[in-house]
This record gives sequence, C-alpha cells and structure tokens, in this order.
Amino acid sequence: MNDLDEDIRKFAQLIIAAKNIVVLTGAGMSTESGIADFRSPGTGLWEKVDPNEFASIHSYVSDTQKNLKFMLEMGMNIFRAKPNKGHRALTKLQKLGKLEGILTQNIDGLHHKAHTNNIVELHGTVNEAICMRCKEVYPITTMINQVLKGFYSPSCEVCGGLLKPNAIFFGEPLHSETLMRADEMIEACDLLIVLGSSLLIYPVAFYPRKALSAGAKLAIINIQQTDMDDYAEIVIHEKIGDILPRIIEIVEKNLKVSN
Ligand SMILES: NC(=O)c1ccc[n+]([C@@H]2O[C@H](COP(=O)([O-])OP(=O)(O)OC[C@H]3O[C@@H](n4cnc5c(N)ncnc54)[C@H](O)[C@@H]3O)[C@@H](O)[C@H]2O)c1
Ligand SMILES: [Zn+2]
Repeated sequence: MNDLDEDIRKFAQLIIAAKNIVVLTGAGMSTESGIADFRSPGTGLWEKVDPNEFASIHSYVSDTQKNLKFMLEMGMNIFRAKPNKGHRALTKLQKLGKLEGILTQNIDGLHHKAHTNNIVELHGTVNEAICMRCKEVYPITTMINQVLKGFYSPSCEVCGGLLKPNAIFFGEPLHSETLMRADEMIEACDLLIVLGSSLLIYPVAFYPRKALSAGAKLAIINIQQTDMDDYAEIVIHEKIGDILPRIIEIVEKNLKVSN
C-alpha cells in the first residue's frame, strides 16, 4: 500500500468513526465542473479580473451595465455547469447516513443540483436575484430575461428597485441567520471535512479552529497547502474528484460489512 492509499484508508476510517460530519466546500469543489476558482495559480479568476471592479456592491451600483455584462458571461458558464464526481460522492455519503450537511462558499448551486440536502450557502447563490430595496427574491431568469432584452437596470416587479444576483458581493455583510445556522453545525459536528478551500476568507477561515475547539476532528482535501494543514488529522493534496469517490467507496463497503 503506498502513502496515498494509506491516507485514503485513514480518511475513510475517520468518516466511519464519526457521528456528526459537516463538510465545508470552497471554489476548489467546482473547478472539476469547469468553474474557475479565485486563487489557483494560472487559472484562478483573480489573475484575470480585479475583484473590486467586478464583484463589489459599490461597482455594481455605480456601473451596473458593465458589471452585468461581465456577470452574464461568467454566469452562463455557471448555469451550464454540472455536478462533478466530488459533488456526487457527497450525496452518496449523505445517503449512507454519514453526512449531516454542507457549508459552502460556492454560489454555483452545484450541491443542490447533485441533490445533497441541508446546504448552507454562506455567500448566497447566483441562481436567484434579489431586490436591493424590498428584498423580494426571484429566480435569476427574471433578471436575465430583462438584461437579454437590453434593459441593463433590471428592476423589481414589486417596488421597481434594482435587482442583483442573490450572491454576497464584496462590501456586503453575510446574512446573520445563515451565520447562525453555520455556527450551530460547526459546534455540533465531530468531524469537519474541508474540500477545495484556501481557508483565507472569513468566516470560513475561522470554522476549522472553531470546530477543533469544540472537540471535532479536521480532515482536508485541497490541492494547495492551507494554514490549517498542521491541525488536521489528515490532509490530502490531490484533486477532490480523484480522491473523494475512493474514500466513500471504502466507507460504503465497511458499512455494508458491519450491517
Ligand atoms: N464555484 C463557485 O461558486 C465560486 C468560484 C470562484 C469563487 N467563488 C467565491 O470565491 C471565494 C473563493 O474562496 P475559496 O476559498 O472557496 O476558493 P479559493 O479560490 O481561495 O481556493 C480554492 C482552493 O481549492 C483548491 N483546488 C482547486 N481545484 C481543486 C480540486 N479539483 N481539488 C482540490 N482542491 C482544489 C486550490 O488549491 C485552492 O487552494 C469564495 O468566497 C466563493 O464564494 C465561488
Ligand atoms: Zn423590490
């Protein structure tokens, strides 16, 4: 058995032993679905665009047309994307009764498309639009249809306010109910699995420490190193889609044997 096989086996053992597993996913979860992350060298979005110009609430309000053109281009890629092997492996883990829920930084909705349940979308979703004035929520198609007709100030059917994708932009606070739900899950879990996050953005950067101080164990799959690697029971620096299905397969076999 080589080192990677051994790590995969250990990872599976952690899952088998745990009673309340929460998974925390970042943009690395969706790169294998063709959606670029922010910080991977060479392919990360931040090497191509300035976040303050395109993903901040200030720039959206001050130059809505320019922002919408850019978002539509990026958004079409996200709307067309399909869940990958990693997303599907998590759904399987949940069906095996070994996954409480997912906290995700992703705004692509791919965990929903993979039919996993109990998902907390910390940064919202691009599959919805929200009115900036009255907070009415619409399917994103309501907003896109207006933009495709050349109306670059998409408006709310209730109050006429400006619509924006229901994702958190830079300069916007996260929703307090979402944060509370995430806190509860982190405090209750006995194993936190981090998948595809650089763990650089708050509050997510803080969750592994919070889980550890509440007594949970930590396990990570991420191509690049993170600041939390030294605190984890196990860290695998490989692609999620190559590794996670192998781990879940061992878990499934083990559960069948013990049932
Ligand atoms: N898919 C999306 O919804 C999406 C895409 C880009 C950015 N974002 C937003 O940008 C922010 C980015 O923060 P973040 O920490 O999630 O991402 P990040 O870009 O900071 O880090 C992604 C991490 O994933 C790793 N990675 C990339 N592909 C991987 C793979 N196949 N397997 C394992 N690891 C892989 C990289 O090494 C990197 O460390 C988030 O706030 C998120 O809301 C979301
Ligand atoms: Zn409104």
